[in-house]
Amino acid sequence: MPADLISKTVMKELAARAAGADNAKGNKRVKEVTERLLYRLMQVIDECDVSMDEFWAAVGLLTKTAKNNEFGLMIPGVALEHFLDLRLDEAERLAGINGGTTRTIEGPLYVAGAPLTTGEARMDDGTDPGEVLIISGTVRGEDGNAIPGAIVDVWHANSKGGYSFIDGEQAPYNLRRRIATDSKGRYLARSIVPNGYGCPPESATRELMNLLGRHAERPAHVHYFISAPGYRQLTTQFNFTGDKYLYTDFAFGTREELIVTLERIKSPDEIRKAGLNKPFARATFDIVLTKETAQAPSTIVNREHVIAA
Ligand code: DHB
Ligand code: FE
Repeated sequence: MPADLISKTVMKELAARAAGADNAKGNKRVKEVTERLLYRLMQVIDECDVSMDEFWAAVGLLTKTAKNNEFGLMIPGVALEHFLDLRLDEAERLAGINGGTTRTIEGPLYVAGAPLTTGEARMDDGTDPGEVLIISGTVRGEDGNAIPGAIVDVWHANSKGGYSFIDGEQAPYNLRRRIATDSKGRYLARSIVPNGYGCPPESATRELMNLLGRHAERPAHVHYFISAPGYRQLTTQFNFTGDKYLYTDFAFGTREELIVTLERIKSPDEIRKAGLNKPFARATFDIVLTKETAQAPSTIVNREHVIAA
């Protein structure tokens, strides 16, 4: 098809009218974004000479994504959730915020309302045969002072890579806890070492990844929201050194500062001190929060979750 069959002005004018640019009603913000999105989409269709069958196949894939409630999975897979993080990082830099623990994606599988305890929590219900993992750390401000009473909201997958509420195999809130830091800003979670998460076999997200020649796997990771009055809420995760998918995370969540090396504890003395009876793995994940400021966009994100608690 000749590239100049329709002129740029036709596309531009059509996108503008479709977005209501010639009326004074509706939502200004939705209109300005819609106009640009439509124009760029028309340009891509034209440049790539997308056929009608190809166009409707794409709509079909998006329809499947919506029917499966999978947009939360698809968006990290096409790097958009990481892109939003990079923009927030940049906005913070411009606002003079340079410190603090690195953020990374929330992902789609958070469930609000996990059990809350102070100082310590056991996250697993004892049924997972995975290796015992003890995570500990301190929440501090940039001044180095500990923050007592910070809420550390932690969630992760089991040793099969599945999440409670999502895989239909675990007790509610298994591997999901909120821990308020103690008087010294410390938290400790006893759990099991998670496995990486892979997109469901029949998912639209995996279908797209196949079409792109990519895998649909994440390295093992532990998710966090950390909040304390007067500080910017932090959304982050840590990964484990040596993970097969560490540097090819399909969801683009890995960040160099967030890779933790597990310590394998074998000494009978240390095992006893930890109140255990077999070797275990230990991870330290300290957190630094930055002060809240009106100069940078809020880090508290309103979004729908797969499970509304
Ligand atoms: C996806 C799954 C996760 O567990 C996660 O943390 C991020 C993304 C996903 O399926 O897209
Ligand atoms: Fe996850």
